[in-house]
Amino acid sequence: MAELLQTTAISKTFGGLAAVSGVDLSVTEGEIHCLIGPNGAGKSTLFKLIIGTYPPTAGHIKFRGDTVTEERPYQRVKRGMSIKMQTPSVFKELPVRQNLHIALQHHVTKAELAREEERLLTLLDLAADAGKPAGELSHGQQQWLEIGMALALKPKLMLMDEPTAGMSPEETFRTGELIQQLNGLGMTILVVEHDMAFVRQIAQRVTVLHFGKVFARGSIKEILADERVAEIYLGKTHEHL
Ligand SMILES: Nc1ncnc2c1ncn2[C@@H]1O[C@H](COP(=O)(O)OP(=O)(O)OP(=O)(O)O)[C@@H](O)[C@H]1O
Ligand SMILES: [Mg+2]
Repeated sequence: MAELLQTTAISKTFGGLAAVSGVDLSVTEGEIHCLIGPNGAGKSTLFKLIIGTYPPTAGHIKFRGDTVTEERPYQRVKRGMSIKMQTPSVFKELPVRQNLHIALQHHVTKAELAREEERLLTLLDLAADAGKPAGELSHGQQQWLEIGMALALKPKLMLMDEPTAGMSPEETFRTGELIQQLNGLGMTILVVEHDMAFVRQIAQRVTVLHFGKVFARGSIKEILADERVAEIYLGKTHEHL
C-alpha cells in the first residue's frame, strides 16, 4: 500500500522548547491511523504541522508524493486534505441541509447537489433533522454535520483532532461507526484522540507520541499489548524519561 502522508524528522519549537521533535509519521492509503499520547505529548502540534497552521522548525512533509512542507493550509486542502477541527463551526441559524448545501455548492454540479445532500444526510444520520437549525442539534450531531461539511471536499485524507470531545458514550460510539463507514468508502483517516475505548474501536495502526517524540508505533493490537504504552498513560515512567 502506498504512503499517503509522511513526515520526516519534523520538529516544532516554541520559545526554545520542543513540542514536536524529530517525528517520522507515515499514514498509509486506506487506513484509519490514530495518533495518541498523554496530555502535552505534542499531538495537536503535529496535527497543525500536517495541515500547515505552523511552519515546522525542521523536517519535511510529503503528501501524495509531493513535498508540502512550505505550503499554506488552503493549498494542502486543494491537494486533498480535509480537516475536522476540535470545535464545531457550523452555521447555527441555518438549517442542517443548508449547511451541507453551502459546503457542497462549489464541489458538485447543480444537478448532483440535491442527491449529494441526501447521501450525506443519510450517512450522518441527520435526515430526520434536515430542516432544523443546526444550532438546535445535539453537540454530537453538530460534530457529525461538521464532518459532513468536511466530506463535501471529497478528501483523500480526513484529519480529525479529538472528534469525540464532549460527546456522550453513545455519540462517541456512533462517531466511531461513522469513521469506519467513511473508511469503507475508501477514505484514509488520521485521528488525534486520547479516549482509548474509542481508539480501540476504530484504529488500525497507531502512533504514540510522548514528550514530542514517537514513543511507539504499530497495529492497534501491538499497541494495546505494549506495557510501556500503558505505563505512560498512567504516568509511571515520567521520572525515568
Ligand atoms: N502555540 C504554542 N505556544 C507555546 N507552546 C505551545 C503551543 N502549542 C503547544 N505548546 C506546548 O507544546 C507542548 C505540546 O502541546 P500539544 O497541544 O501539541 O499537546 P497535545 O498532545 O495535543 O496535548 P492534549 O492531549 O492536552 O491536547 C505542550 O507543552 C504545550 O504547552
Ligand atoms: Mg491536543
